[in-house]
Amino acid sequence: MRTYSHNAPLKAALGKFRRSGKRIAFVPTMGNLHEGHLDLVRKARDLCDIVVVSIFVNPLQFGPDEDLDAYPRTMAADKEKLFKEGVQVLYAPEVGEIYPEGMAGQSIVHVPQLGDELCGSDRPGHFDGVTTVVSKLFNIVQPDVAVFGEKDFQQLSIVRKMVADLCMPIEIVGVRTSRDEDGLARSSRNGYLSLEHRRIAPVLHRTLTDCRDAIACGFDNFLQLESHARMHLIEAGFEPDYFEIRDARTLQAVNDATEEIAILAAARLGATRLIDNIRLSLNPISDWGMLAGGN
Ligand code: PAJ
Repeated sequence: MRTYSHNAPLKAALGKFRRSGKRIAFVPTMGNLHEGHLDLVRKARDLCDIVVVSIFVNPLQFGPDEDLDAYPRTMAADKEKLFKEGVQVLYAPEVGEIYPEGMAGQSIVHVPQLGDELCGSDRPGHFDGVTTVVSKLFNIVQPDVAVFGEKDFQQLSIVRKMVADLCMPIEIVGVRTSRDEDGLARSSRNGYLSLEHRRIAPVLHRTLTDCRDAIACGFDNFLQLESHARMHLIEAGFEPDYFEIRDARTLQAVNDATEEIAILAAARLGATRLIDNIRLSLNPISDWGMLAGGN
């Protein structure tokens, strides 16, 4: 595995692969890698000849009161995991390589509507930071395929929209959420949880699956389901930011044209903000698949 921290040598190396007909898959991350990230790497490996992973804790997507400085940085352990997975190229730039003129005058990629609500309204500017850095990374790496996790379902939807709107010649592939045994979605931020909060944390996934099962059984008063779920989370010790039943394609309210529902939630345990989501196809055949242990 070759590690690059500068764009020029990375571009030269990737250009060679491209000229010899190799297809490149790209997995952008902020490091502190866990099995969820490695699932994306494995998917990338299945799809292409060359896998490029980036590790970059992107300051532009953190709000002023967020955990930028505390965000776990575990480069040596991350490198070992990527090497074991057969990754050929790691791109790990410093902030100055990505934002050579600082962030104040940086051009911003903004995806309206999709990016403005749910996590977008709780974390103003967050998705602009994500789409801006992902665009830059796409232009540096120029992959054929880029792999993202469904755990961050809104982020995945926004990236898909950006790529379509801006005619970026990249296929975006989503990978299902990797979970601990008790259902908690794997996340670098789980490491912040106290023992007591870690015990409570799986309630978030259980609340999502209960809601999904109620809809699958025909319960269609979504407002009631959402408020019941929020109450349930509060009783368990969470402070919910949102719990919303939406159309999985548009992330807007469910309507007659909805083919798949996404139930999305964000909730805090102490200072740690957890997000998770679950989907339900309104096609009866795939419904069965979802109920039989889907994501
Ligand atoms: P990060 O949180 O490190 O996540 C990198 C990728 O791993 C994202 O696509 C995310 O959805 C995926 N991922 C994280 N936990 C997962 C899980 N439990 N199961 C499946 N996939 C999971 O998301 C970011 O970084 C950043 O916003 C980034 C896209 C790199 C831009 O800075």
